[in-house]
Amino acid sequence: MIAILGAGSLGRLWAATLPAGQVAFVPRPGQMPEPVRYQFHPTEGEAFCLSIPWLQSGDAPELLLVTTKAGDTLEALRSALPSIAEPIPIVLFQNGLGSQQQVTQVWPGRPVLAASTTEAANRPGAGGLVHAGTGQTWIGPLTDRARQSFKSVVGQLASSGLKVLPETDIMPRLWQKLVINAGINPFTALLNCRNGELPDQPFYRSHIDGVCQEAARIGAALSLETRTGPQLREQIEGVIKTTAGNVSSMLADARQGRPTEIRYINGWLADNGARLGIPTPVNQLLTERVESLLNRNH
Ligand SMILES: NC(=O)c1ccc[n+]([C@@H]2O[C@H](COP(=O)([O-])OP(=O)(O)OC[C@H]3O[C@@H](n4cnc5c(N)ncnc54)[C@H](OP(=O)(O)O)[C@@H]3O)[C@@H](O)[C@H]2O)c1
Repeated sequence: MIAILGAGSLGRLWAATLPAGQVAFVPRPGQMPEPVRYQFHPTEGEAFCLSIPWLQSGDAPELLLVTTKAGDTLEALRSALPSIAEPIPIVLFQNGLGSQQQVTQVWPGRPVLAASTTEAANRPGAGGLVHAGTGQTWIGPLTDRARQSFKSVVGQLASSGLKVLPETDIMPRLWQKLVINAGINPFTALLNCRNGELPDQPFYRSHIDGVCQEAARIGAALSLETRTGPQLREQIEGVIKTTAGNVSSMLADARQGRPTEIRYINGWLADNGARLGIPTPVNQLLTERVESLLNRNH
């Protein structure tokens, strides 16, 4: 059985695509609600209804997928891990960077892996889950103990029919996705616009080079990046074109007054800049402004 911690959009996508009867969501402590029922809308074909049970005491999962938001991950794992056996591989699906390192610092002896996925799922209303775009999921080890198990984890997740690939060195993939998110997400949240509207926005045009130059310097200092700021901007603008109609996850969170993952994207760049002595005024500004959106909404 595969246990999934975080019964949100991405967790429900894995639950819907992994073989029926082999998944269960991990409940919050003391909670044992009704099974999670929802209508799954695949990218192709008819929608269908699903009912996913919660993990029961005594269940012994062989794999744990963690699909909470980055900011909730540590607390969710602190509650869940006492009932998950030590050798069970843990796959972290969070965007950005920082939450993965928090987990490996607290549980260095566990087999911890990270996933970088371009699958897209969202919940337009209660009771529905839309698989909005197919992509690829790379899985790689973060701790030494995960090195032996990571190819079998890839095999288990590939039984979903989604494209799952092994990646020995997962950090560069997490980094590359962070850079794209850093150049798109905060701007869409602040300007309340879809990805494709960004290139016409003066605020985006006056700050995107700053985001990219700061990211290029930090990435180079961490041996994660060889590209220049202008090359990063070119890549970001390629993604803006191919995702022009998308509402970014950060904009969706901001619209609903939910905490965003800004701390783990531009905030991570700003924190690492401070640690490395690399100035990051633009990433700091974007982090503060996105954080103040939440304060304004509360
Ligand atoms: N959705 C995508 O297409 C996608 C694609 C790539 C990467 N990601 C990344 O995957 C992560 C999850 O994204 P998402 O879109 O699935 O977010 P989401 O829809 O907000 O789902 C997160 C789920 O975690 C649950 N949760 C929070 N704290 C918990 C706890 N202590 N114990 C158990 N469950 C807890 C939340 O429950 P409540 O709602 O009850 O708080 C929610 O159901 C994010 O880091 C995101 O960036 C998502």
